[in-house]
Amino acid sequence: MRMDAGTGVVGLIGHPVGHSKSPEMMNRAFRARGLPFVYLAFDVSPQELETAVRGMQALGFRGWNVTIPHKVAILEYLDEVEETAREIGAVNTVVSRNGRLIGYNTDSEGYLRSLVDETGLELAGQRVLILGAGGAARAVAHALAVAGVESITIANRTREKAERLAASLGRKVDARALSLAEVARVAGETTLLVQTTSVGMYPETEAIPIDPSLLHEGMTVSDLIYRPRKTLLLREAEARGARVHGGLGMLLHQAALAFEKWMGRAAPVDVMRDALEEAMK
Ligand code: ATR
Repeated sequence: MRMDAGTGVVGLIGHPVGHSKSPEMMNRAFRARGLPFVYLAFDVSPQELETAVRGMQALGFRGWNVTIPHKVAILEYLDEVEETAREIGAVNTVVSRNGRLIGYNTDSEGYLRSLVDETGLELAGQRVLILGAGGAARAVAHALAVAGVESITIANRTREKAERLAASLGRKVDARALSLAEVARVAGETTLLVQTTSVGMYPETEAIPIDPSLLHEGMTVSDLIYRPRKTLLLREAEARGARVHGGLGMLLHQAALAFEKWMGRAAPVDVMRDALEEAMK
């Protein structure tokens, strides 16, 4: 790829960022579309966040992705925050447009695209059980609520966090909260189980967040973890005849949506998927 004085920059800020697959996906996407941009990852400590934001703005970055631990703190430096991101309370994509910084959350729509694409699931009428109540759970819960599912139960180790999330969905969907230990009460009627905690993530791959005997063939089981590609939860679900959905697609589609916001055109999703799969090896 040619780099010259006209090359534009987008990037990622987080702490740490060394594990990110976004540079591979985005740079491959720019090359596939013949766009004169590079995507770089920057490790920015919380103390340096404001300086980094002002620096990127001064240097004319087209935009950037935001990851842990800056997804909430970044809001304070933005001129405008799009409605979904405001409701979730977290931004993962910033666009710099005419000197103004605009925040979006593409995790939410990215999750939905991946789920519907890969499972063909009809969202209307789903009785959803979400395990976890952190940032990822918020993005998924808001997406599913807006998509018109029938009900959402949030089950979390710390029950108060589940209650807060359920309350924030109140107007959109029938929402309830439980502690993780109480999931047996709703598992039987659940048609879509979404796992958003870190339980089962590499290197603790033999951990599982719920009793596998609660899984059944009337469920789609979706796990946001992508390392390993198939968690113990998904293996147990599959063994009981449930439909399963892994976390890699969300990573792909949130990136594709960020590309679209910066570049104003469709992302080369297949190229990005290949880059992601290669980066995962
Ligand atoms: P993310 O942005 O990935 O959602 P987070 O906001 O830190 O990360 O949220 C992590 C979620 O995983 C929380 O719901 C957390 O439960 P608590 O609110 O009780 O902390 C959940 N979690 C993490 N480790 C867990 C474990 N060992 N068992 C059960 N839940 C766990």
